[in-house]
Amino acid sequence: MGNISQKIKKEVVVLIKKTGQALLKKFKTKNLKTQLKQRNEIVTEADLLAENLILQKLKSLTPEWRILSEEKGDNHLTSDYVWVVDPLDGTTNFYMGNPLFAIQLGLVYKNEPVLSLIYAPAIAELYYAEKGRGAFLNNKKIKVSQRTLNQAILTYCHGSSLTAKQKAIKIYKYFKLKNYHIKLLGSAAIEFGWVAKGTTEAYFSPGASPWDIIPGALLVQEAGGQTYDFQGHKWNLKSKSILATNGKVDKQLLKILKNIHVA
Ligand code: IPD
Ligand code: CA
Ligand code: CA
Repeated sequence: MGNISQKIKKEVVVLIKKTGQALLKKFKTKNLKTQLKQRNEIVTEADLLAENLILQKLKSLTPEWRILSEEKGDNHLTSDYVWVVDPLDGTTNFYMGNPLFAIQLGLVYKNEPVLSLIYAPAIAELYYAEKGRGAFLNNKKIKVSQRTLNQAILTYCHGSSLTAKQKAIKIYKYFKLKNYHIKLLGSAAIEFGWVAKGTTEAYFSPGASPWDIIPGALLVQEAGGQTYDFQGHKWNLKSKSILATNGKVDKQLLKILKNIHVA
């Protein structure tokens, strides 16, 4: 499982908190500088500021380790350890003044997520999980809910490719028309966090990037939940989709995904 030193763990907690404070200072700033990426996606000066803070620290803390980060890409080092960084998840929410945004940091060792940190500073939620050691919210152990599908609240993301978006629309349409509670919160990190802490029962992502899902997948697993691809295989780093659940709604949801042809 690799051996992550206490020093590294402590320093990344300090780093994510510090980055959160920097984001809060920019939150609700008028005239935030923005650029458009592919497919009309917004990137703001806050995404870049947060990424710079994180990359600078990670490079000095673990200079030999590979880093895969949303805006700056991949440093192409080869190492068993890979940091996966989403400096600001929920950029559109952030830009609109909606507090549902977060920083995500994941550590992968030999293709297995081993450490997750998700910090949503505007709602004061700091999630932490280590492989085999449980999941925590603000230092308190968390567990997924026990609710079944008829009582469930579901959330979903749309991903960025056209196919993923079409699948997301099918999922939303099916559950909404059947009178289930389903919402798009606009931050994958928080959507995983809320499954892990038992606020919601499942989260669907039909096609997201590694930095959107790696930290959250480990968090949900460590909180006692389950993660699959839409075909019902256990989720892994090569999976193209993810369904994260509380472990009570899985069978029915996977059956529905198959029936509505998104699996
Ligand atoms: C996005 C958010 C959103 C999800 C998209 C992601 P970003 O991340 O998590 O909820 O639907 O697929 O790309 O761009 O704000 O970091
Ligand atoms: Ca993201
Ligand atoms: Ca982002």
